[in-house]
Amino acid sequence: MYDIFRSALFRIDPEQAHYASACAARSVQLARAGGALEKMFAFEDIRLEQTLWGNTFSSPIGLAAGFDKNASLVPFWPTLGFGFAEVGSVTAYSSRGNPRPRAFRLIEDEALINRMGLNNKGVRNIARRLRRTAPRSRIPIGVNIASTHGRKITGNSAVEDFRISFKTIADQAAYIALNISCPNTRDGKTFEDPESLEILLKVIMEQRSKSAPNVPVLLKMPPPVSDRIVFDSSLRETVRLALDYGIAGFVATNTATDREGLATHPARLRAIGRGGLSGRPLEARATHLVRYLYRLTEGALPIIGVGGVFSAKDAYRKLRAGASLVQIYTALIYRGPGVVRDIKTGLVQLLENDGFDSIADVVGVDAA
Ligand SMILES: Cc1cc2nc3c(=O)[nH]c(=O)nc-3n(C[C@H](O)[C@H](O)[C@H](O)COP(=O)(O)O)c2cc1C
Repeated sequence: MYDIFRSALFRIDPEQAHYASACAARSVQLARAGGALEKMFAFEDIRLEQTLWGNTFSSPIGLAAGFDKNASLVPFWPTLGFGFAEVGSVTAYSSRGNPRPRAFRLIEDEALINRMGLNNKGVRNIARRLRRTAPRSRIPIGVNIASTHGRKITGNSAVEDFRISFKTIADQAAYIALNISCPNTRDGKTFEDPESLEILLKVIMEQRSKSAPNVPVLLKMPPPVSDRIVFDSSLRETVRLALDYGIAGFVATNTATDREGLATHPARLRAIGRGGLSGRPLEARATHLVRYLYRLTEGALPIIGVGGVFSAKDAYRKLRAGASLVQIYTALIYRGPGVVRDIKTGLVQLLENDGFDSIADVVGVDAA
């Protein structure tokens, strides 16, 4: 059925297609017609349930950041069977992002390239909306925060931007993910270097102790350039800082800036230009980082694995590598909303085949 929608959606610009899908979801939400959809997409199984950071996740499959930037579809996401959703990235000030076109499909690679540039309505508006919807949500709602996209927001003002967002919204969030790895802003990589990261963590954790002492804070990491890379001392330093500053987990990974191993013609890639690559080409590398983080922390900090998860087998690999939860974005575009149910049913089958009683038993079994 999604094949019919997909061929229509794929005829229009990806951002317009996203807008059309979000409008359809919003109509379902407003008409309170979620019940019928939920019957189509429902699949519950106690073996998929886990408790992390004091929250119950009815399934490990969540919505990745970037799809619901303004938290306008919070009541809708459980309808598709998601076990949690991460809204944002949210920034201190509203932003229109980069000029269009800024999202592109690479169909041969089952991938996307985007340089949205952190377009969102700003933390005050989004926090107001979440205050209404998050307490009634049936699933945990994480909030991803980043610094406002702008020439003047660098260094200390970027740290202050993060702090404002944290202070304004953290009390509405099941967890906060610090987006230190957005490739779509001029200085988006600033906080990937440990020295700058430490300054950010100091400020955020101080703010946390004042305004939201119980909220778990996670770091959203960039992907490695390949699944064979031997990690350098900078990543080990990042993990040490995370442990020292009381970070509660990782989201691995964000989109990639390189164009390694793609089937898409180089001339088309050149025509598209810069932007973050998501989808199938990220699968192995994101899993590689998940495994490394799990090993380095000896499984002490839960990891949300994200990047190229299209099927139950992909999700299972992330869990076995050390992820406790898994998120999807690009698979929703290529496979449609039924992909969440398909992954969940497939996961239960995989658990049964391998003789595991629950998701928690699988986490990290391949990390050694
Ligand atoms: C169009 C688009 C917008 C995104 N926006 C954000 C964002 O605002 N913040 C963020 O942390 N990640 C963002 N992401 C990255 C996703 O959350 C995810 O890390 C990445 O797409 C890899 O997962 P996937 O292969 O399942 O798509 C975006 C991804 C896409 C495709």
